[in-house]
Parts: sequence; structure tokens; C-alpha cells
Amino acid sequence: MAFKESGRIKPFTDKIWLASPTMHGLEATYMMEAYETNWMSTIGKNINEIETQIAEFVGVRYAVALSSGTAALHLATRLAGEHLYGQSQPNTGTLQNRVVLASDMTFAASINPIAYENGEAVFIDTENDTWNMDPIALEKAFQFYPDAKLVVIAHLYGTPGKVQELKQICDRHGALIVEDAAESFGAKYLLNGKWTETGSLGNFNCISFNGNKIITGSCGGMFLTDSKDDANKVRKWSTQSREAAHWYQHEETGYNYRMSNVIAGVVRGQLPFLQAHIDQKKAIYNRYKEGFKELPIKMNPFDGEKSIPNFWLSCMTIDEEAMCRQVRDDYTALYFPETGKSCPTEILETLAKYNIEGRPIWKPMHSQPIYRNHAFITAKGNGRGQSNAYINGDKVQDVGIDIFNRGLCLPSDNKMTIDQQEIVIELVKACFQ
Ligand SMILES: Cc1ncc(COP(=O)(O)O)c(C=O)c1O
Repeated sequence: MAFKESGRIKPFTDKIWLASPTMHGLEATYMMEAYETNWMSTIGKNINEIETQIAEFVGVRYAVALSSGTAALHLATRLAGEHLYGQSQPNTGTLQNRVVLASDMTFAASINPIAYENGEAVFIDTENDTWNMDPIALEKAFQFYPDAKLVVIAHLYGTPGKVQELKQICDRHGALIVEDAAESFGAKYLLNGKWTETGSLGNFNCISFNGNKIITGSCGGMFLTDSKDDANKVRKWSTQSREAAHWYQHEETGYNYRMSNVIAGVVRGQLPFLQAHIDQKKAIYNRYKEGFKELPIKMNPFDGEKSIPNFWLSCMTIDEEAMCRQVRDDYTALYFPETGKSCPTEILETLAKYNIEGRPIWKPMHSQPIYRNHAFITAKGNGRGQSNAYINGDKVQDVGIDIFNRGLCLPSDNKMTIDQQEIVIELVKACFQ
């Protein structure tokens, strides 16, 4: 026996979401302003306003509003490649034949831009304190790849990683950083004794306004920088790389990546509510923490002295000894119910039965079919081919896969009520019967 519930709890009529958009009304005002003034384009007041407001909030000089966080990451990565290795031909990327060291526990959009630019991602394992790139593994990676000059760092689920350590290592090796703050807008990190916003911690910084993020434009993203030249370059590339001629003249590959003024209206309307959203997400996280305190469960960790997360997603892991057996292939999962134990598959299936959305932990990049043949570096060194058929119990260290196996993302929607969350907690508890 595992999941046991008396039948008192009924499935929700309206689905409880993982993280859905939360609108306040002001968004419609600014969208309508774009409509009524006919700035239904990729220029207009909403774009100018959010670029100014967000640059000021994050503490950078320039912000460039783009169509998505992925577009921001692509142009940031391309620009980093150009700074490091020079301009590329139109038929090659700026990272051709170059290795880029990258976060392993992240969403694919952090990594794919390396491939768009023909680079080769090498994945760096995760630490257990914040679920982000492990500085020890990064240092090891520079021993394997002393020529690496670019590092892509994400802050998973809105929790800043060990930025100070990672930056020091990058500085020592003369490497630049692309910071993927898509999930962590509004989260802060204590850098050199000063609270600093994520989105300003790298050399090329990105945020996202995807519909599931802490604030949203329905879609959209932003490139953030202190460099006027970099901001101008990204703005140029994002608007088809037009040159200063009367006709369409092009010397560089261009993209249609600029944000729409209508989308910018939604972002503009959301901005005043950023802190309210963070407060709601923090309350959700703390309620889960309290609700699970008698269970063999840990919440996604953060460094309370050096960071203030935005608590975008509440996640949990099950203690190893309380895990029932679970097997996963690339597409399906099975588990063996056991008294007093559970696993992410059982919990996610249970929640789904009650019309509640949870999600597995982001599957680490080094284990994704598309990147499975790429190098993977752990705190111990090479993460590939380290077990030995002739040595018993020779377990390969892989923090990311361990979190993936034992963890899951809990419903973290701002609009979830306390009563609804209590039911989610009760259902999780029931899985450990
Ligand atoms: C870590 C991370 N990076 C990048 C992205 C891509 O952002 P977008 O969906 O705005 O393209 C996302 C989410 O979507 C993300 O979670």
C-alpha cells in the first residue's frame, strides 16, 4: 500500500496550475494604449518604458526588449562568441569549433544557442546547496578544457547559484559569462557585499517573460548589459541587421527578434506587481516547507545568507531511504508502490488524478538524447565512463540525475489559495501512507 486517501478529497473542477499568468488589469490599459495610438509594432512607448524601468531595477545601463528569453540568450551567446573569437561568416556561428562550459540543470533554451552558433556545450554538474552549477566541477572542467572562454550559467527555479565562486573561477581563467536569469528575475545575490539583481551578474545577461515566469508578457525576453555597444549590436541584430543605407543593406546575419509594443504593454502592466508575485511565491514555498516537515521530504534549497530567491517554483526531493522503486526510460515511467515510501512518479500521477499540475525536475542536459554524447564534468572530474564492471558499488557521481530521480516541481501558481495548497499537501502526504 502506498497512496491512501479516504475519498473525502474530490478532483478540482478548475485545474491547479504549476505556474500560470496572473493578470491585474493594468496590462490591458497599456496594451490598449498601443492599439489606440496605433503603435502596433516593434517600436513604441511600452518598449521604451520597460527598457528604462527594467534596466534601472536590475541595475544595468541598457536593456533590449526581445521576442523571447531564447532570442535574448541566442544573441547574448552570439555576441559573446564574437567578442571572444571575432566576426563569423554568414554560414557559420561565432562559436564554431569552440567549447562552451554550461549549466547542466537547466532548460534546453540556455544551451541550444550554443548549438545555433555551432559551438559544443560541455555540461557542468550541479551542487546540492542551490541546485546550480557546481564551482568545483567548473574548476575541474577548466583543467580538461583550458582553452574554454565562455560559461553559460542559469539560476534554476529562481534560486541564485554560487555566483561569487563561479565568477572568481571564470575571472581566473579569463572566461566570459552568459547569465540566464530567465527563471530568476527579481532574485538577488550578495556579490562582494552588495545585494545585486540576477540579470546583472554576467557579461551578457538575459531574462524571460514567458507565460509561466514570475512576471509575463505572454512571451518576451530581454538582454541586459552595461555596454552601449553591446546593446546597440543586439538591437541591430534583432531588427534584421539593417545598415545605414536608404535601401535594405546587410553586412551581418539578421534576426526578427524584437519585442512587440503590445507584448511590452503586458510586461509594463505586470512590473508594478513583481514584488507581490515574489511574496506570494515565497508564502507558497514556506507553506510547503511547513506542511512537509514530518515527511522525508526536502524543499529546493537556497543560500539564505548570500541570496534572496524569487521562489518562482517550489520543488521537493524525497530522501533516498523513503524512495520506492521507480524506473524511467526516455518517455515513460513506472513505480512499485511501497508502504511508507513514495517517488516523484507516484506523486505526479496522484496530483494529476486530482486535476493538479506538477512536473518532473528539468531533466539534466547531459542526459538529454540530443546532448547525450557531449562531455559532462562532475566535482570528481570526467562524468562519463567512470563505472567499472569489475568493481562492486563503484557509483558514478551525478548530482543532477540524483535530483531528477528524487525530485519534482510542485504547483506554485500565485492564484492557488491556501485551502487548495493544503489539499495538495494532504495528497502528497497520502502518497507516503
Ligand atoms: C532557464 C530558462 N532559460 C531560458 C528560457 C527561455 O525563455 P523563453 O521561453 O522566454 O524563450 C526558459 C523558459 O522558458 C528557462 O526556464
